[in-house]
Amino acid sequence: MTNLESPWAELLTEIGQADSAESIEAIRLKIFGRKAGMLTEAMKDLGSLSVEEKREKGQFFNQVKTTLESALSDRLDSLRSAHVSKQAGEGLDLTIDLPEQDRGHLHPIHEFIRAVEDVFGRMGFDTAEGPEIETEDNNFNKLNIPETHAARDSQDTFWIKSETVLRTHTSPVQIRYMQEHKPPFRMICPGKVYRKDSDATHSPMFHQFEGIMVGKDVSLANMKHVMEAAVKELVSDDVEFRWRTGYFPFVEPGLEMDMRWRGDESQSREGKWLEVCGCGMVHPNVLKNVGIDPDEWQGFAFGFGVERLLMIKHQIPDLRQFYASDLRFLKQF
Ligand code: DAH
Repeated sequence: MTNLESPWAELLTEIGQADSAESIEAIRLKIFGRKAGMLTEAMKDLGSLSVEEKREKGQFFNQVKTTLESALSDRLDSLRSAHVSKQAGEGLDLTIDLPEQDRGHLHPIHEFIRAVEDVFGRMGFDTAEGPEIETEDNNFNKLNIPETHAARDSQDTFWIKSETVLRTHTSPVQIRYMQEHKPPFRMICPGKVYRKDSDATHSPMFHQFEGIMVGKDVSLANMKHVMEAAVKELVSDDVEFRWRTGYFPFVEPGLEMDMRWRGDESQSREGKWLEVCGCGMVHPNVLKNVGIDPDEWQGFAFGFGVERLLMIKHQIPDLRQFYASDLRFLKQF
């Protein structure tokens, strides 16, 4: 910049003293204006010069051009930031154009889990957690699923080593909780679970939340009421469900809850109904296994699939979309 000579050097000083966007623009016109711009005019004379002189002058004018252009834009930037910091001192200027910013938000699964904790929390349920690497004993045996039991096959298990598994469901947290707490109690525990399974409605890792309520006279009717109230609040008021008898070794009797697919039925690969939950009255053997007297206490338990509830809530046909990290999908929430 320093090696510019008159009249260009004076322009640099002028730019440095400009105090508004308008005066910057006026100087820009004075230099680069198509009609009488100083540089425009100077360049016009190049035509009459010899090839040698043309090259030399041409290079010089190029240097003048880039120097003055960057001086103009630097000055404009510093005027703008001075304006912004002055405004920040004075209050908010809603007229400033700021670049749009992408805001992050919770993943829909985690947002839903927070809602689960909130809804059940208001019904008096404590939130608990358990490890994802679980003992075979907690994941199966204590839940009344001994080694020879056929129900183990339905839970295509990832074994880590003998007697240690990636938990196939959140039900082992019931066992841990009941060993540490005396009834009466109400508890839910959301978390990740793992199974060797993958298609539009199954993923090798997915989320469940387990619930359990034990008291002197907790009944199946209480269970249905709690579950229906929660699901309406979590998914939608107009959600339709149906109850079927189901078999799980850790409850007796056992039930399953299906939910009707909302919206376009052709989008659901499983047809009209999707199984979202297993539940029932806690089996007396399970209570005995954790040292609770089944003649004195009784209760219900349930285990919901989080992704499936979300699929119905938002009409998402394929659960693998939750894990694809596709911003076009995630930004819709
Ligand atoms: N753990 C079962 C599963 O993952 C779901 C389940 C069924 C949980 C019945 C329960 C229950 O608490 O009572 O398939």
